[in-house]
Amino acid sequence: MGKGFFISKAVGIAAIIVGAGALATIIALSVVYSQEKAKNNDNVLPTDGGTTSKPPVTTTAPSNEPWDKYRLPKSLVPDHYNVTLWPRLKQNLTTGLFIFTGQSTVEFVCAEETDLILIHSNKLNYTKRENNHLASLTSLGGVKAPSIKSSWLQQVTQYLVLQLDGKLMKDHRYHLHTDFTGELADDLGGFYRSEYMEDGVKKVVATTQMQPTDARKAFPCFDEPAMKAIFHITLIHDLGTVALSNGEEKESSNVNIEGHDVQKTVFQPTEKMSTYLLAFIVSDFSFINNTIDGVLIRIFARTPAIAAGQGDYALNKTGPILKFFEKYYNSSYPLPKSDQIALPDFNAGAMENWGLITYRETALLYDETFSSNSNKQRIATIIAHELAHMWFGNLVTLRWWNDLWLNEGFASYVEYLGAHEAEPEWNVKDLIVLSDVHRVFAVDALASSHPLSSKEEDIQKPAQISELFDAISYSKGASVLRMLSDFLTEKVFTMGLRTYLAEFAFGNAGYTDLWSHLQMAVDATGTDIPETVSNIMNTWVLQMGFPVVTVNTSTGIISQKHFLLDPDSEVTTPSIYNYEWIVPIKWMKTETIQHPKWLKNESVTIDEMKVSGSDWVLANINVVGYYRVNYDQGNWERLLGVLSTNHVAIPVINRAQLVDDAFNLARAKIISTVLALRTTKYLNKEREYMPWESAVGNLDFFYLMFDRSEVYGPMQDYLRNQVTPLFTHYKSLTDNWKNVPVGHMDQIHPNLRSTVYCNAIAAGGAKEWEFAWSQFKNASIAIEADKLRYALACTKQPWLLNRYLEYTLDPNMIRKQDATSTIVYIANNVIGQSLAWDFVRARWSYIFTQYGGGSFSFSNLVNGVTERFSTEYELQQLKQFKEDNAEVGFGSGTLAVDQSIERTIANIKWIAENKQNVLDWFKAEEKP
Ligand code: BES
Ligand code: ZN
Repeated sequence: MGKGFFISKAVGIAAIIVGAGALATIIALSVVYSQEKAKNNDNVLPTDGGTTSKPPVTTTAPSNEPWDKYRLPKSLVPDHYNVTLWPRLKQNLTTGLFIFTGQSTVEFVCAEETDLILIHSNKLNYTKRENNHLASLTSLGGVKAPSIKSSWLQQVTQYLVLQLDGKLMKDHRYHLHTDFTGELADDLGGFYRSEYMEDGVKKVVATTQMQPTDARKAFPCFDEPAMKAIFHITLIHDLGTVALSNGEEKESSNVNIEGHDVQKTVFQPTEKMSTYLLAFIVSDFSFINNTIDGVLIRIFARTPAIAAGQGDYALNKTGPILKFFEKYYNSSYPLPKSDQIALPDFNAGAMENWGLITYRETALLYDETFSSNSNKQRIATIIAHELAHMWFGNLVTLRWWNDLWLNEGFASYVEYLGAHEAEPEWNVKDLIVLSDVHRVFAVDALASSHPLSSKEEDIQKPAQISELFDAISYSKGASVLRMLSDFLTEKVFTMGLRTYLAEFAFGNAGYTDLWSHLQMAVDATGTDIPETVSNIMNTWVLQMGFPVVTVNTSTGIISQKHFLLDPDSEVTTPSIYNYEWIVPIKWMKTETIQHPKWLKNESVTIDEMKVSGSDWVLANINVVGYYRVNYDQGNWERLLGVLSTNHVAIPVINRAQLVDDAFNLARAKIISTVLALRTTKYLNKEREYMPWESAVGNLDFFYLMFDRSEVYGPMQDYLRNQVTPLFTHYKSLTDNWKNVPVGHMDQIHPNLRSTVYCNAIAAGGAKEWEFAWSQFKNASIAIEADKLRYALACTKQPWLLNRYLEYTLDPNMIRKQDATSTIVYIANNVIGQSLAWDFVRARWSYIFTQYGGGSFSFSNLVNGVTERFSTEYELQQLKQFKEDNAEVGFGSGTLAVDQSIERTIANIKWIAENKQNVLDWFKAEEKP
């Protein structure tokens, strides 16, 4: 999803605070980095199998045949594949379909005697071979292979099943041959097509997205991450088009196949790798390249985009980031080339296919005029994220999807280290606190959260795998790994990481293997930690949630408690650790950093934390710990005092933390809402981005709850007062907005585009909307198109919003990759909110089947359209929605539905308890 430019929250707030003209400037300051981690990854679920025969026995009782299980048996182990694929970029005029054809031979070793071959296959049609079977089998080394007794496609579990009339013998090798056809659909999964216009001509690209379980949609394969093999890929494509895959092009020749003059490109065999990391692409894109220490780096995109220099930034940054990771991992990049390609239709943000990373255009292409700093930052971090996977994930792969959090969490942590290398001036590492820690605190504080780690047996079906790509895996994973790296020190952390990668290179591992290697590093260096790495980390990985640590500076007692946003919610999942964590506590007393402490039980007395006089204690320095902090009232008062007299005595990240912790502690009724509001009083002195962003994010909740009530006016007055000095500061810094400031966190230009467009559409009517729509349709720069798509949701005209909602489900109007995020933009608009909710409710089953049960987009959609919910009536509607669609399901949005219900209940209570207080406070503050 094009989320980099996302300045929506701040836009919302600031638009309310000041008048549209002047405020645009202010907003941009605080929003440059507002990154939404939301992803848009639909992995379209199978609807039809497009298959031939049926299982031999039909039975109504749930059967327990091997082909009814989602996991492959361990009897066969693939060694290598020879796969030839021929995607047709022209529509078949008779069928109206785009298709691809293919042949595959897989060589496998029999590890346990068996008379059954199960290999994944989804939506592929097979050409019958010997004896009318869907495949043929030969054996290596002289012995004769058993013959195939029956063969069929098992649609539910996505297998090609072959029953043999004799046994395959242990340690013998066999070849399985298939010929097949698949649809090159526009469904963003497996081998699919992407379309775009160039010079008035429609162009088609064939490309792939295999993760997690769609390689089986491109060719029959043992589609599990531990079934690593070597792949010999050949692509047949039209003359003049470019074919790409994981390996380098070995040879390309013109051939005539079935009367067609075509090009045949053979690729070098891959390293031993997992199927989900494969990629095949045919396009007529252009590229730019350079070479760094013998590794060829290329950036591919639509020809006009390359010609306009939009790939230059990515090309310039890739080399240094790659070099950084080689050093970090102490392991050289194992492939001869690193391709990166920007695709017009792409579900996720980017995908780490080994040697051929795919991106949506907005995540790779940068344009000096049209892109904001935040767009640029997203490009640097996403490149770093995917390059990080080249080792962590690709070279060493988790054995099964239940450990996905380690793969994605790790990349989501080190992406900041890689981006810092690319842009050392940006302080980008700090931003993990806003983009990941605070972001995931919001969901992990709900009773409906779940632990990072899942049991292998609980993750079986493709839909269950897709559900794992959530904020917990990404952002909590990143947060706890950052904490771990911090308390071990980076030196010890990388030491363990390096031996882990060395031991499991080209193989598979589990998260406990990483802990063992880190433990070895701890032992080797004599690092002082209170328990083993595994004991400490298990408390963070095996139980959901996180603690609020309370520091009582009058007694010195430090205690912990499971932090729940709604204290009345019921936690039904028991935890073996009883919701206690082993908590590293970095802290400072007045202005001096102290020796770190550990909290291992419910509470401990730390005499040094007992302070008197004007001394104060601040815990969780730089928010490296995954927990919130509360204090006794006296210490809160002293901290508020420091904020108002000398706020720079508190590190900038902790200023953001104090605001965020206070607001959330108030929502959990641990402190008063008034205390939370008081943390915003010093903001009239604050010039830094992070504390402002934190405040804006938290006040956003007040806007959502009160933007239709009498609290709104006084709140606006208060915030206008608070923000004015910031405005004046930047006005003079820029010499009345004439100059662009240098600091990355001070940027104002050209970050204003979204804001300006949004305000213009909001102020205008149908004519203005139509104009923006035509600009959107004609935009050749994806990042610009995304800004317009966002702004189109800002109109105040209900009929335009309704029509726009309709457009979201028409792929000719809005690309499938952008459908759910567009609906969420509309829901963010106070006028569009109920329209979007009605729309989603009415169309759920269509949206769900057409737009997939995939990854992030569905949880974003559900959370997005219900964000303002705060009345009994809305709660009833939500419950009804859950009930009505139980049959259809919610896929990756399942958890989001429960989260939304829980959030709505908490909101209702919060408003009842706080509305009057809040109103009184704002009113009192208004008075001079
Ligand atoms: N492996 C994922 C892409 C992915 C996500 C594939 C979900 C299938 C389902 C990739 O490494 C990733 O995490 N991409 C992120 C970008 C990142 C900077 C967080 C994305 O797509 O947004
Ligand atoms: Zn990733």
